[in-house]
Amino acid sequence: MDIVLGLQWGDEGKGKFIDLISENYDIAARFNGGSNAGHSIERNGKRITLKMIPSGIFMQDVQNVIGTGTVLDPVSFKNEILNLKKFDETLKPEKNLTISKKAHFVLPTYKLMDVFMEENPAYTTIGTTKNGIAQAYSNKILRQNVRIGDMYSPDFQERVAHILGRDYQVLSEGGMELPSLESIREEFFDAVEFLKQFNCTETELFLNKALSEGKTILAEGSQAALLDIDHGTYPYVTSSSTTASGACSGLGISPKKIGEIYGIAKAYCTRVGNGIFPTELFDELGEEIRTKGNEFGSNTGRPRRTGWLDLPALRYAVMINGVTQLVLTKADVLSGLKSVAVCTHYELEDGAIETNAGTLPENAKPVFKWLDGWEADFSVMKDSSALPKELKEFLVFLEEELGIPVGYLSTGPGREQILKMK
Ligand code: GDP
Ligand code: IMO
Ligand code: MG
Repeated sequence: MDIVLGLQWGDEGKGKFIDLISENYDIAARFNGGSNAGHSIERNGKRITLKMIPSGIFMQDVQNVIGTGTVLDPVSFKNEILNLKKFDETLKPEKNLTISKKAHFVLPTYKLMDVFMEENPAYTTIGTTKNGIAQAYSNKILRQNVRIGDMYSPDFQERVAHILGRDYQVLSEGGMELPSLESIREEFFDAVEFLKQFNCTETELFLNKALSEGKTILAEGSQAALLDIDHGTYPYVTSSSTTASGACSGLGISPKKIGEIYGIAKAYCTRVGNGIFPTELFDELGEEIRTKGNEFGSNTGRPRRTGWLDLPALRYAVMINGVTQLVLTKADVLSGLKSVAVCTHYELEDGAIETNAGTLPENAKPVFKWLDGWEADFSVMKDSSALPKELKEFLVFLEEELGIPVGYLSTGPGREQILKMK
């Protein structure tokens, strides 16, 4: 099993890369998260954003799996499938998509609770995507949730109605304006009926059987290392395991089966939502990168915060994931800048130096190295030998600093805009 992971705060370009390389695999499997993800893919000049559906879905010969470590909102899933079919009428996701029976449901009141907590001053505001992700995972941990396989049980409706009614009461007592309980219940059960046309199975058995038959699996991460529930910038994180080990637990596959671990990183940093961001740019250049890089959330449309590449954070992400190859995206966005900064380390208050930082220290000073900028027409670049000398030097610098090779350089949002480097 090979794994694709985000190494920063999400939106590094995982979807685009997976769409491209999944054709080399038999199976593409999402292992964490839910509809909080937004993986944008450009095909034939058209653009689509996938939230829950694995990015291998366009390859009809690739079997796609929504794994056990995910949380699935059937209402959002139904919309996504309908949207996908509009995008490409030839696709038949009922045939090449399988869902884990052990994945957990996101119920409609979880989304309402997410909004309630984000807007209520009694709670820390995280800046979530309001998809009910934390509520689904916390109910899972509390062992109060329903799983996909439960939808076949005779008491499913009753169990869900009980949870909805209980949450609804808490929210209305909290003073939240709510849609009618009847309407959310109806919408949910209607979407569950839609979900039943998909194959729902013990995906652990399916995946391990496939491996024993010599088939290949590409695991697709959503979110990224710095948003990981354990290793990210807590509490401003998501609620799932976004790392390589999360791929193993989320899919039920042994760590012994891992091959390549592709880590995706932008040539700069972005972040949506709240939380520390030491290299953030607040000036015109930050705005320019946002505009040129189209840095607006694929999922919520929120403007992404922008800043320089952060090596201490990236070293940490490479370390905890055991990344074997870096896939660098969006260097084209920085094209035309005279010089480009990279944070090489932090200086702490007591003068100590931090070069590998998962817990980014609040008042640490990022220290930057300035490198020569590059300029090129990336829209026509077909060969790495045509890369400008300054960008080649930038890549060598990253390889030396991170101790891993740059395997691919993405040169634009389009499917074909990628260079294999090694
Ligand atoms: P994901 O969540 O990691 O899949 O990333 P998103 O799709 O949320 O955000 C990445 C954005 O950058 C999308 O709009 C992609 O189309 C776009 N993109 C990906 N790679 C590149 C690249 O190398 N250059 C440019 N300019 N855009 C890219
Ligand atoms: P992809 O897979 C970027 C962020 C939210 C918020 C925090 C918690 O497209 O890279 P949540 O809704 O998960 O409870 O929000 O995590 N976040 C993402 N940021 N890309 C994502 O996914 C994200 N998924 C969640 O903005 O700060
Ligand atoms: Mg995204």
